[in-house]
Amino acid sequence: MTNWYDPYHQHYPQYRQNSHYVPQPQAQPEGFRQPYGTSFAQFRPIRPSTQDNLILPRGFKYDIVATWGEDMGNGEKFGFNNDFNCYFGKNPNEGLLWVNHEYIGNLGIFVTGYKEEEGAPPRTAEQIAVEKYNVGGSVIHIRKDQGGNWRIVKASTYNRRITANTPINLTGPVKGHAEVGGASQVTGTFGNCSGGKTLWNTAMSGEENYEGIVKDWSENPEVPGLNVTHYGWIVEIDPADPHSTPKKHTALGRFSHENAAMTLGKTGKVVVYSGDDANDQCVYKFVSDGVYKPELGKQNSSLLEKGTLYVADMGATKWVPLDLEKTPKLKEKFKSQAEVLVNTRDAAKLAGGTPLDRPEDLEVHPRDGSVFIALTNNTKHGNYYGQIWRLFEDGNDAESTGFSYEVFAVGGPQSGFASPDNLMFDQVGNLWVTTDISSDKLSQGAYKSFGNNGLFMIPTEGPNKGIAMQFASAPVQAELTGPWLAPDGETLFLSVQHPGEETEDVNNPTSRWPYGDIPRPSVVAISRQ
Ligand code: FEO
Ligand code: CA
Ligand code: CA
Repeated sequence: MTNWYDPYHQHYPQYRQNSHYVPQPQAQPEGFRQPYGTSFAQFRPIRPSTQDNLILPRGFKYDIVATWGEDMGNGEKFGFNNDFNCYFGKNPNEGLLWVNHEYIGNLGIFVTGYKEEEGAPPRTAEQIAVEKYNVGGSVIHIRKDQGGNWRIVKASTYNRRITANTPINLTGPVKGHAEVGGASQVTGTFGNCSGGKTLWNTAMSGEENYEGIVKDWSENPEVPGLNVTHYGWIVEIDPADPHSTPKKHTALGRFSHENAAMTLGKTGKVVVYSGDDANDQCVYKFVSDGVYKPELGKQNSSLLEKGTLYVADMGATKWVPLDLEKTPKLKEKFKSQAEVLVNTRDAAKLAGGTPLDRPEDLEVHPRDGSVFIALTNNTKHGNYYGQIWRLFEDGNDAESTGFSYEVFAVGGPQSGFASPDNLMFDQVGNLWVTTDISSDKLSQGAYKSFGNNGLFMIPTEGPNKGIAMQFASAPVQAELTGPWLAPDGETLFLSVQHPGEETEDVNNPTSRWPYGDIPRPSVVAISRQ
């Protein structure tokens, strides 16, 4: 028997009979993340691999869209460690791609020559300047050429870098408050991990592991220090306006934001789900005060300035408001809403938020509105393999304050995947999952059977519900991040982040992907051959 997985034709006959499938009333509105079908769900799964290559199923190929250090045509260079990708535009062959550049870390040996090790001196001012330039994000105008390969349109005025030096406006309750030193504008963004797309076609970028970066850069006394409260927010960027000033929306809270997944509640309020990627941290959602009005376009951005931030209590199955008036217990510790938001983690614990095993991506199922949560792992108490949970809001309403949930899939040798991180849905409702086994633990001990990190597809209904099928295997010590489909579903953009991350000697890198010399983080476009 063939192991072809063919959801359209074998297991989902309703789609064959009705190719213009009309979403259920509570499905995500059109225009949200990944509203597209894809033929990619039909593939012959690959086996785990330890090869230093990006391995795909038979019949698929990849080409490099952008690579670290690449000239963007305007004197700017594509940043390091690409993570989240988000495509803008209706044309499946040409559009704008927002790309997060997360961190430098141990790969500084290639970027600046700095080696992170016990007793190392502080980075020089020059090294810090190079690091600051290489993080943040990029807007790249990309186009598929005659040969079917995606390239940066170098002459485009849309090409833009956002770095740790870019001025960014604060919005919401914390703007101008003493808790952030009175700032209404801050300098730069970094630690940009995953993100999301707004209904009004802007990108949201999550500032995740900012604390270590602030600390590293503060060790050099010649370099002006950074105020740590200026980081750990969700940043909104408008890729269509190269002159726009990005915004940090403080109403969404300050923690190690993995991503931001937007949907609408039943009365039209905007709801944004976000995980806090650290051991024993919580899951949050923001519900706007105002309602979404499509005719207002990008002015809807102001919805992210005023609303209620909730933390999940998984025992009571309730969303607890992190609001001084709605949860008076918070007054034991906090005097203002700004103080609550700047110290979201502390407020969450005080309010009864449940500490979880590294909640990373949250994504909303495009057909039924359920919320999938990747719990990557928590090795400190023996959860090496992680799980994926599925949360159902009461009344199937994202504005609800109550929910139920189930364990959708469990990592481990029995399922073939471990340490789930980024999630993406295709329109059929298949969940696509990237894995994040730490570079120093890959292919050994508890992780021996998994080989390198990968990308998996898991159907969410039908006879194969919950079964993981591997679609891609990453190069050595890399993580696959930021999966995003083009509007026709026939190109999958994917980041290959931190190949060769455990390299000790630049002359003997542990990965030479993609060009055979040194490891270079790159965004690839995957398509059928
Ligand atoms: Fe940057 Fe949570 O991965
Ligand atoms: Ca991530
Ligand atoms: Ca991760």
